Order: sequence, then structure tokens, then C-alpha cells
Amino acid sequence: MGYEPRKFDLKGLHGISDETLALHFKLYEGYVKGTNTLSDRIDAFLRDGKVDQEEMPAYSELTRRLGFEYNGMVLHEYYFENLTRESTARPDGAFRDRAERSFGTFDVWKVDFASIGNMRGVGWAICYENPANGRLSNHWITLHEHGNVAGFRPILVMDVWEHAYLLDHGSERAKYVEAFFANVAWQVVDGRLTAPR
Ligand SMILES: [Fe+2]
Repeated sequence: MGYEPRKFDLKGLHGISDETLALHFKLYEGYVKGTNTLSDRIDAFLRDGKVDQEEMPAYSELTRRLGFEYNGMVLHEYYFENLTRESTARPDGAFRDRAERSFGTFDVWKVDFASIGNMRGVGWAICYENPANGRLSNHWITLHEHGNVAGFRPILVMDVWEHAYLLDHGSERAKYVEAFFANVAWQVVDGRLTAPR
């Protein structure tokens, strides 16, 4: 059974326009469709119980692409989920405590995360929790699939592909990163940290 695209009500964000979001939801739906299509095509190879040598190149390519589409789908869901038009300026719950434990202060954590967001290239800035010790660390993800740490839990996810900011901020990516911080749903972020493992 395939995935269904989820709906997110994000109209009226600060510095991220409804037009940008409409474009973004369309792209997200494309990733859901891509995930379903590739999964179906891979399943078709498996129906006879083997992947023979002749099938291997096509099977390999589809499987590599699945990593891109799958992460593109899931990361967009994390991203949309951690945005709200009713953001509190700064976190004051579980996330703040954890950022202080991991980085010394929230502001140092923020400098690291925002700087990753301003790196050149197309991808994501993601704050992960290491479930083994509760430590937070920030990571650069190239495209959707390169750089994710196996087993770590995504806590805060920021899209820094060009479609996330070009329409609203042109090439001024730092302005988008600040706009992102004006819309973070810190309660959702806290909830990710306190959710059962
Ligand atoms: Fe995106």
C-alpha cells in the first residue's frame, strides 16, 4: 500500500509566503508519488523471487533513487510539522534544556544550526538527538539522503533547498534562516524530545 500526502495548514507564516508553501506542498507531493512509484517498480522485480544479473542495473538505480525520494518525503513532513504561525520566539522547555546541556547555551546551538543553514549547496540543516545519550548535534544533509545519522532522531528540520527561500528572499538565504526561526513550533520540537523511543 502506498503513502498518502499529508495536509499541513501553514498559511500566514512570517517571512515564508503562502505562494512558497503552495510550491513546497506540490514538491512534497511529488516525493510521495516518487516513493510510491519506485516502491512499486522494485516490488515488480521481486515478484519472481529473485533479482537476476540482467535486472541488476535497473534494480540498483531504482533502489538508489528510492533513498532520495523517501528522505525527500519524510524530511518535508518533519519540516512542515515543526512550523507554525503562532511561534514563541524562543524555546523554554525540553529543547532549551537539551541544547544547553549539549552546546553550553541555546545561543551557541543556534549559531551552529543557522550557520549550517547558510552553508552553500542544496540540502537540509537538521538537529538530531542521539538516543543513546540524549545529546543533540546539528548536521548538514546533502540533497535529502547524504549525511543523515543512522538511528538518530530528527528534532528540528530546516529545508535549505532553493525553493524554500528564493521566491521570498532571492539569494539572501540568511534572511530565510531568520524567518524560519520566527516560525518554529517549539512545542512540537519539545514533543519530539519527550516522545517515547
Ligand atoms: Fe523542500
